[in-house]
Amino acid sequence: MSSLYKRTSMCGTLNMENVGEEVVLNGWVAKQRSLGSLIFVDLRDKSGIVQIAFNDTMPDELFNQANSLRSEFCIGVKGKVSERSSKNPDLPTGDIEIIAEDMVIYSRSDTPPIYVKDDDNADINLRMKYRYLDLRKIKMQRNLTFRHKICKIARDYFDENAFTEVETPMLERSTPEGARDYLVPSRISQGCFYALPQSPQLFKQLLMISGTDRYFQIAKCFRDEDLRADRQPEFTQIDLEMSFVDVDDVLGIQEGFLKRVFAELMGIELKTPFPRITYDEAMERFGSDKPDTRFGFELKCLNEVDAIRNTEFQVFANALANGGDVRGICIEGGSPLYSRKKIDKLTDETKSYGAKGVVWIRVDKDGGFKSSVGKFFDNEQLGEIAEVFGAKPDDLILIVADKKKVVFDSLGFLRRHIADQMGLLDDSKFNFLWVVDFPMFEEDDEGSVSAMHHPFTHPKDEDIPLLDTDPMSVRADAYDIVLNGVELGGGSIRIHDRELQQKMFDILGISREESQRKFGFLLEALRFGTPPHGGLAYGLDRMVMLLTGESSIREVIAFPKNQNAQCLVSDAPNTVDEAQLDELGIRLK
Ligand code: AMO
Repeated sequence: MSSLYKRTSMCGTLNMENVGEEVVLNGWVAKQRSLGSLIFVDLRDKSGIVQIAFNDTMPDELFNQANSLRSEFCIGVKGKVSERSSKNPDLPTGDIEIIAEDMVIYSRSDTPPIYVKDDDNADINLRMKYRYLDLRKIKMQRNLTFRHKICKIARDYFDENAFTEVETPMLERSTPEGARDYLVPSRISQGCFYALPQSPQLFKQLLMISGTDRYFQIAKCFRDEDLRADRQPEFTQIDLEMSFVDVDDVLGIQEGFLKRVFAELMGIELKTPFPRITYDEAMERFGSDKPDTRFGFELKCLNEVDAIRNTEFQVFANALANGGDVRGICIEGGSPLYSRKKIDKLTDETKSYGAKGVVWIRVDKDGGFKSSVGKFFDNEQLGEIAEVFGAKPDDLILIVADKKKVVFDSLGFLRRHIADQMGLLDDSKFNFLWVVDFPMFEEDDEGSVSAMHHPFTHPKDEDIPLLDTDPMSVRADAYDIVLNGVELGGGSIRIHDRELQQKMFDILGISREESQRKFGFLLEALRFGTPPHGGLAYGLDRMVMLLTGESSIREVIAFPKNQNAQCLVSDAPNTVDEAQLDELGIRLK
């Protein structure tokens, strides 16, 4: 039979209230169990699974068809909802089953290469290749729906707040967000390339100059950078920009949005305004510009402690002599949990952040100390250090001495890594905070200066005079929204003055010629009456990941790229015909 059964219900929605109803369901066979005279089929659609029961008193054709069913056959079933004799408490529909009356097999399935089950543990590349099967999992469908709902709330909320959704070009000149561009060769202008947008940054600023006043977009962005759990080469932003606003205006609108998302989708009343901390404070207390505040273990500076200032222990002495820092964290109750071997492992893991070692001090039950630097510090001196942390018996103090950046990165890593190992990353807590007043510029090891957010970010008004005298100390009107240690979004107030914008390029070492070539269109637009403006972009994928409790954004993107930036479903990237290259005037090296 090939006729279409008109669906009356979704599998996962049926329960005791439906007993006695005649229903028609369409879906896929999750499992078929044949017990001789009885056949049970778990039928799945995006809403869930329900059991269909067949028995040999039914017409032969129906029973034989049921016997032939295999995993992932696509079928339609007519039947009556009835109470089960043996209930399955693990299944939301486990109190009932459908006694089949008729069935249609729409199409059969080969043996599926992955098991369509939420916890299948299949190899990730196999999941990517057969993504359409992977997406049949109820969890994956739930993630897609959740993502859709966030987009819907974004559209409603920003619409209600007078934002207009505007699409910006995909084929454009590259915008400098700091990553490598994806390039698209032009056929008509041979030898020239478009860049896919790393973000709509410059176009949204042009929209403000155009009088659009409030813009938003659910925008695809492309960055050719190395993949991580929270990074994909192709990702989505909820991007927005507002005219005639200051930092408080922008953050206020965001808090309203996030409050709405949490109320509607999570049933959680978020308290606003969110805490704000400056970048400097975030680094000092948490060693990170995206601090996870669900647990303590805050950093303490030991530079001024007498025992350390006067030490002969070379590692500490050298760090201080070279203008570096000695800082530490105290893991409350950590001493019995971390053997010597485990601390060695932590030390090893910290090496990738540049730390050459990690010093430890254990507080004994009797209040005495054991330490990896016991040779250099007597009990009294260790006590002096422990006092800075208010350490108690059984606590474990970990100390790193090096350049500031290495110390912050290492302790920031250790702090969160240990909290994770100790089970302190409570999934039910959602600790939002704003990190504000980022430095305007950063300098790499080779001394080259770049904009920490981007070159269009407005310096804090009171710091503008420092641009001429001490640019590295200039702070920006830039902010990040951080949730449980993940940077969910970031933005800034922008420069609306052409001279200031040019000055910024000068400090960044971008020559007049280069700035004209790359951003000439923005510099020109800035000449025609630019409103003060600012905005922000959320990483939509990251937001969905955190709210669904997933550990990778791959789980919330329908067709993500794998570790090698490949789309395994369509087998991209791939070679193209010689003729296509010819048309583009391209010869491969
Ligand atoms: P930024 O570069 O900070 O700012 O990006 C904003 C947010 O986008 C998310 N994000 C990513 N998500 C997944 N994969 C990636 N590769 C990736 N890169 C970034 C993050 C990040 O916080 N134009 C500015 C915004 C502005 O100033 O308004 C911008 O793009 O969650």
